[in-house]
Amino acid sequence: MPRMLSSVGFWMLAGAAMAHNVTILSDAPVNQEITALLRWVLVFSVIIFGVVAGALAYTIWKFRARPGDDELPPQVHGNDRMEIIWTAIPLLIVMVLFVLTARTLVVLKQPVAGSLPVEATGWQFWWDFRYPNEGLRTAGELVIPVGRPVQVKITSGDVIHSFWPPSLTGKADAVPGQDNYLRFMATKPGNYYGYCAELCGASHANMRFRILAIDPEDYKSFVKAYKDYAAPTPDSEQAARGQQLFNTQCAACHTVKGTPARGVIGPDLSLFGMRTTMGSGVWDNTPENLKRWIRDSAAMKPGSKMPPFPQLSDADLEALSAYLYSLKLDGFDFAQLPRY
Ligand code: CUA
Repeated sequence: MPRMLSSVGFWMLAGAAMAHNVTILSDAPVNQEITALLRWVLVFSVIIFGVVAGALAYTIWKFRARPGDDELPPQVHGNDRMEIIWTAIPLLIVMVLFVLTARTLVVLKQPVAGSLPVEATGWQFWWDFRYPNEGLRTAGELVIPVGRPVQVKITSGDVIHSFWPPSLTGKADAVPGQDNYLRFMATKPGNYYGYCAELCGASHANMRFRILAIDPEDYKSFVKAYKDYAAPTPDSEQAARGQQLFNTQCAACHTVKGTPARGVIGPDLSLFGMRTTMGSGVWDNTPENLKRWIRDSAAMKPGSKMPPFPQLSDADLEALSAYLYSLKLDGFDFAQLPRY
């Protein structure tokens, strides 16, 4: 018993330690399809649990051993009527849930009036986000306006992943060659946590993302500034050296808008300096983490496809860091958003 209590204590502490308030019971207007489905499944599950557990408890009590019971009860075998009943009822329940789920999937595919379309592609082990109407691309962190439905088209570039921002909506698999859809709406500004919810390899647990929901006016100016954005001319010798290093060492895989770096197989780093996290939503975006990452990303994230760069000196890493942190739009501070 003390052991059990200490484990309860552990989970309570673990819950408290997660300073953010992740919940799956979001009830934003565009999310009601999934919430309604969840409630139906819950109702069925509670009824089934009640009937099965009740019958079990009744049987245990009713047929308990009594003094003088030393003979075996009569042995019976087979009862057609009962077998048909206990096959037909679950079949019916499963069919009803199937129809409700299929209906929800069809509804989710319909565009919502006035919604913001975005595309999320899962890769081992990060998320690539595109805004098809704006022609913008980000990685790991998706900026959206509060109060406007977002419709995400979800797919994968390699293995099966699953896109899941629990506080905003349910999850949908990211399957190569197939598009799945989810919709959600943030009703208040926040830094919403997202997870990959399908085992996809060594760093499945390190494949996270963030959705940054900001005021609609701020979002408008963010998109405008991002469209007009080109990487600023380095303002120090160190940053200039960093840019030069970046263009020779990193540009084959990474893009920085408005520079010769146009690689697309790795995350777009155009606005790296304003990211709240790095390594796909896992680590705080700090110069220490960045330098460790560049030197040997697989040491921080097993299975990372980015090669190690042991040949870079500390001065090289400082220069790259100076350059990467200069890549940002002025006037936005995502670090202050409450976390959900
Ligand atoms: Cu991607 Cu798990």
